[in-house]
Amino acid sequence: MGKLLNLQFILVMFLFLGYSNCFAQGSAGKKILIVYFSWSGNTKEVAKAIQQSVGGTLFEVKTLKDYPKDYNACIEYAKQEQKENTRPKISGDVNDISSYDTIFIGYPNWWGTIPMPLFTFLEKYNLSGKTVIPFCTHGGGGAGRGFDDIRKLCPSSKFLEGIAISGSRAANSLKDIEAWVKKIGVKK
Ligand SMILES: Cc1cc2nc3c(=O)[nH]c(=O)nc-3n(C[C@H](O)[C@H](O)[C@H](O)COP(=O)(O)O)c2cc1C
Repeated sequence: MGKLLNLQFILVMFLFLGYSNCFAQGSAGKKILIVYFSWSGNTKEVAKAIQQSVGGTLFEVKTLKDYPKDYNACIEYAKQEQKENTRPKISGDVNDISSYDTIFIGYPNWWGTIPMPLFTFLEKYNLSGKTVIPFCTHGGGGAGRGFDDIRKLCPSSKFLEGIAISGSRAANSLKDIEAWVKKIGVKK
């Protein structure tokens, strides 16, 4: 009886692990990680649309110290951080980053490029040999220098064409995301 229960447990675990792995694998068989930073939620919406479209695991880059909640205060704070080339401390770790083949990196355009916590993230993890795909949301400035800055931080990664979505369209971006992931071949 004990042995039978053990076998049943192993079978259930096997099925569960198979299922979760399948979810992280994405639709083209690659294991996908979707890394993003988002202050007011737009980039998070796009990250979720990407997950809805190709599967994969979401990882939100969070700072140990919160950014100001007030827009103007945040603008000034971020401007100063960029001027000082700060590397804000980030919390949490990606579980076994080496197991992912394809990594989306998402950011809100902050003063023309990626927010400083993404510099911290990209200097912490080695993405060489992986396929990196940038995406951003913005208030009119498009991707800014962000795609180039990500490229500089991942010199040995393969890059696919990124996408810039206006912040006001972020919550309704699924159609654009679907077309984009098909165009770049991440979704068949
Ligand atoms: C600190 C800060 C700086 C910003 N700088 C720019 C900028 O240089 N160019 C631009 O187009 N939008 C800029 N924006 C607008 C954001 O990129 C846009 O609202 C984005 O969708 C916000 O994404 P989130 O909700 O994921 O934080 C800035 C917003 C903030 C808070």
